Amino acid sequence: MKILITGGAGYIGSHTAVALLEAGHTVVIADNLSNSKEWTIKKVTQIMSKRITFYNIDVTDEEAVENIFSNHPIEGVIHFAGLKAVGESVEKPLEYYYNNLVSTMVLAKACQKYKVMRFVFSSSAVVYGENQVPFVETMDLLPTTNPYGETKVMSERILFDIAKVNPAFSVSVLRYFNPIGAHESGIIGELPNGIPNNLMPYLTQVAKGKLKKLRIFGSDYPTVDGTGVRDYIHVMDLAEGHVAALENLTTGIHFYNLGTGQGTSVLELVNAFEQASGIKILYEVVERRPGDIALCYADVAKAKKDLGWTAKRDITTMCRDSWRFENNYKDR
Ligand code: NAD
Ligand code: UD1
Repeated sequence: MKILITGGAGYIGSHTAVALLEAGHTVVIADNLSNSKEWTIKKVTQIMSKRITFYNIDVTDEEAVENIFSNHPIEGVIHFAGLKAVGESVEKPLEYYYNNLVSTMVLAKACQKYKVMRFVFSSSAVVYGENQVPFVETMDLLPTTNPYGETKVMSERILFDIAKVNPAFSVSVLRYFNPIGAHESGIIGELPNGIPNNLMPYLTQVAKGKLKKLRIFGSDYPTVDGTGVRDYIHVMDLAEGHVAALENLTTGIHFYNLGTGQGTSVLELVNAFEQASGIKILYEVVERRPGDIALCYADVAKAKKDLGWTAKRDITTMCRDSWRFENNYKDR
């Protein structure tokens, strides 16, 4: 199939481009490079020795999006493009609501106009709020405490309403848990701008000596060792989850957790990283980070049953691959 990947120069989009090409699909990427570099697309073509058509456009721009649909026989869309920094979304709510909601509506509209009936959307475990773990797709969504999270809840709702009145529209909403790791070649990986907010890129930069020490946000959570627990998933497993979602789309809208089902605490991740890299990580425990929850992990039964997909790579592999990319990447 010929697939339009919005946000395909970004972290998850670029790895999904590799997985789609590996599965024999053709890829068109649309990205405004607001949080990525064209370099990444070149690297994807290097890994796969296959051509990718790239449009440097903003996907909130209706005309620019329609131009792609009129020039290519697009058969499906995977919509990754979005702003994703939780803290920044509190500072810049309008930017987040505008970018994340308008992009979803523009793409859904173009799909209706050009009769593209396959749509896969990047959602997040953030939509579960402080529900009881493990999070199951049937749970009521709870308030998310930040505009970023709300854009995911609202986008899901918009797609739900569109699917309800367009019986041929097939939508898969994928709720990601915590993607880490990198392509095993070490050629592409996560490239955060500035000082990372997320744990794994912070850890790799401490290991590399770019940052002094890790701050662990809270050690008094009701968890195995007091530190926050998350469901870390290898980005290539996540990427392969998108291929499975696309290839198993059925009419209507369907929601899937993409995680491993395993919770790992911050200290457990630090230990796993030290073992995988052979480097001791300097850290200190500080106050909890506002908005963080204690526990977040998935019930993964639905994706396994409907899509035949499960995550395969373990925490050691995730740490090893993140570390390999940090070591390989010279250009920051
Ligand atoms: P990323 O920032 O690496 O990639 C997003 C890409 O979208 C970037 O390349 C950026 O330049 C592009 N983009 C943003 N707005 C755009 C616009 N209006 N037009 C064109 N391009 C635009 O982020 P990622 O980690 O790859 O995340 C991809 C998607 O998955 C996002 O929607 C994010 O909210 C969601 N998600 C990510 C995580 C995570 O932990 N990384 C977790 C849950 C959900
Ligand atoms: C965060 C977002 C989430 C988003 C995801 C991916 C919040 C509240 N949630 O998830 O919506 O989908 O990123 O972008 O921001 N930690 C430290 N020290 C650090 C960094 C993190 O101790 O320097 C801890 C956190 O407290 C948490 C765990 O590590 O317990 C994972 O944090 P992080 O990688 O930021 O992901 P989330 O907070 O789960």
